[in-house]
Amino acid sequence: MTTTATEDLQELVRSADSSFARARTPAELENAKAQFLGKSGRVTELMKGMGALSVDEKKTRGAAINQAKQAIEALLTDRRQALADAELARQLQAEALDVTLPGRQRGMGALHPISLAWERIEQIFGSMGFDVGDGPEIENDWFNFTALNNPPNHPARSMQDTFYVDMSDEQGQPYCLRTHTSPMQIRYATAHARRHAAALAAGQIPEVRVIVPGRTYRVDNDATHSPMFHQVEGLWLGENVSFKDLKVTYLNFCKAFFETDDLILRFRPSYFPFTEPSAEIDIQFQTGPLAGRWLEVSGSGQVHPQVVRNMGLDPERFIGFAFGSGIDRLAMLRYGVNDLRLFFEGDIRFLSQFR
Ligand code: DAH
Repeated sequence: MTTTATEDLQELVRSADSSFARARTPAELENAKAQFLGKSGRVTELMKGMGALSVDEKKTRGAAINQAKQAIEALLTDRRQALADAELARQLQAEALDVTLPGRQRGMGALHPISLAWERIEQIFGSMGFDVGDGPEIENDWFNFTALNNPPNHPARSMQDTFYVDMSDEQGQPYCLRTHTSPMQIRYATAHARRHAAALAAGQIPEVRVIVPGRTYRVDNDATHSPMFHQVEGLWLGENVSFKDLKVTYLNFCKAFFETDDLILRFRPSYFPFTEPSAEIDIQFQTGPLAGRWLEVSGSGQVHPQVVRNMGLDPERFIGFAFGSGIDRLAMLRYGVNDLRLFFEGDIRFLSQFR
């Protein structure tokens, strides 16, 4: 065996070593392996080249090539392990858990400010003896307009443009999204017709005393109007319920709702088809950030005799008032919110301020 022959094998092993070391991934390493140990790799080529040697030379050369081959295989195994170790270390690093970090809390839910205002309204009027009613948001033309003394083609209908549903009920009444909670005046009173009749038969004048909070719809969209908004209807009918009762009731409600006694109220003449006379209710805070400004909070009025008749009641015996207030408006004033749209955008940074 000549020195050159052994030297070329040593050179081959060194060359494999540096080639494996250059491989950065298992795939690159397998490519490098093929160059030495593959079918036409350099070791295989050396084996093939032995055909021309004598028997003795074959023995020594063959043993030397085998040694080189084993050395290359050992280098390959080492490098494979090194790459696998590096990959594991990388994964551990990437997926490391910092056990000293605080745990993730479960998010605390809370009521929406409109719901908070809504619940306050129910609670305050409830304490003043008002029942709480609830009714459909898809309403028919009769309840939404006609029964409220607002016949087809009456110009007052244009005050409340809404979304119409392409469908009519059995009586041919077209459906719309209710423009106000006022249709519930008729629905509530007629739903209690039996109770009223029984009381009348017993010689008593029954009372209708209810509020109806709910969602309402109109074709309006700006900083103070949203196509969907909330109203609360109020209705109090009895033998002798007057504007004086409306003033006391509404003022007491406002004082409780805004948690202040420094509040005054005024009626401003207005027009609604379902009341006569009609009035807007304005309030004025005497202290605080809103002090000194008249703020419109509600429509109101003495219930029109025709509306009382449409409730199935005798307007000679039943008299009283109704009002319809914007819940969103009340919530804006109470919480100091200046853009109505904030309520409906669902931005958690806004909503979490009411927790
Ligand atoms: N429904 C009226 C509206 O949405 C508000 C209203 C005014 C309701 C006077 C009433 C009332 O009950 O008496 O504009």
